[in-house]
Amino acid sequence: METIKYYLNEKTKLLKKNFVSLPRLEARLLLSKILNKSLNWTYLNLEKKITKKQFENYEKIIKKKIKRFPTAYLLENKEFYSLNFKVNKNTLIPRPETEAIVDEIKKNLNKKNFFSFLDLGTGTGCILLSILKEFKKSVGIGTDIHLKTLNVAKLNCKKNNLTSRTKFINLDWNNKFFLRKIKKINKKFTGFKKFNVIVSNPPYLLKNEMKTLSPEVKFEPVQALYDNKDGLSFYKIIIPNLNFILSKNGYFYSEINPKNYKKIENICKKNNFFNFKFINDLSKKKRFILIRN
Ligand SMILES: C[S@@+](CC[C@H](N)C(=O)[O-])C[C@H]1O[C@@H](n2cnc3c(N)ncnc32)[C@H](O)[C@@H]1O
Repeated sequence: METIKYYLNEKTKLLKKNFVSLPRLEARLLLSKILNKSLNWTYLNLEKKITKKQFENYEKIIKKKIKRFPTAYLLENKEFYSLNFKVNKNTLIPRPETEAIVDEIKKNLNKKNFFSFLDLGTGTGCILLSILKEFKKSVGIGTDIHLKTLNVAKLNCKKNNLTSRTKFINLDWNNKFFLRKIKKINKKFTGFKKFNVIVSNPPYLLKNEMKTLSPEVKFEPVQALYDNKDGLSFYKIIIPNLNFILSKNGYFYSEINPKNYKKIENICKKNNFFNFKFINDLSKKKRFILIRN
C-alpha cells in the first residue's frame, strides 16, 4: 500500500477529471472520514501508509463523490452556527444562509428571558437547536412531516444536551388540526398555548427551479425543497393563522424564495399584517421575512 500523500494526489486528479469542484479539499475530507482522523491530521501525516481496508473504503467513497453524492451526506455531518449536525438522506443539508435567522433573533431578543420557540419543518433541527444553545432559559418545539427526519433531529438534540428543553412532533402543517394540536402540546410543555417566536425554512423552490438543481442537490429530499405547487403553500397556511398561534408582540421569521417576495407581501397585507420587513441575504436578495404580531 502507498502513502496518504500518494492517494491524495491520485484521488484529487480523479475528482478533477470528473469535474468535482475543490477536488483536493474533497479528496482530503473524504480520506479524513475514512481514517477517522481530523483534517489537520492528514496534513501532518502525509508519509503514513494506509491499510488495504482503508484503501478499499476510500475507493468506495470517492466513487460516490464522482456520482455527486453531497459531501455532507458522505461525512454524515454539517456545521451550522458552529455546532455539528448529523445529516443523512432524510434531511436537508443545513445551508449557511439560514444562519441569518439565528442572528436576527439574537439581535431582537434578550437571551436572559424565557421564550417558547416553534420551528416548522425542523429537518436536522439546526435552526431550533442553535437558537436554544444561545437562549439558555428558553424552550422549543420542532415539527416535521417525516418521522425519519425527526429521528435525526432528536439525535442532534441529544448530542447538544438540549433534550429537556426541546420537543419534536411529527405533524403535517396541511393537517386541518395541525395548529390546534401544536397549541395543545405547547400548553402541556410550557403552560402557554401560543408561541413567542415562530421560525421556519419551508420548501419554497419553484417548479422551473427544480429542473435546474445542481447534481448534489438532487440527492436531497424533494419534500424539503418543493411543495409540489407554487412555493407558497406554507405561507398561505401559516400567515393567515399567525394570530392563533403567535403571542401578542411575537415574532415570525421565515426564509423565503426571493422570487416570491411580492406574493408573500400580498399574503401579509391580505391578512392585515402590516408590521413586516424583508431581510436580504449576502447576495442582497430578499431571503427572509420578519412579521411582528
Ligand atoms: C427546507 S427544509 C428545512 C430544514 C431545516 N429547518 C433547515 O433549515 O435545514 C424543509 C423541511 O420542512 C419539512 N416539511 C415539508 N413539508 C412539510 C409539511 N407539510 N409539514 C411539516 N413539515 C414539512 C421537510 O421534511 C423539511 O425537513
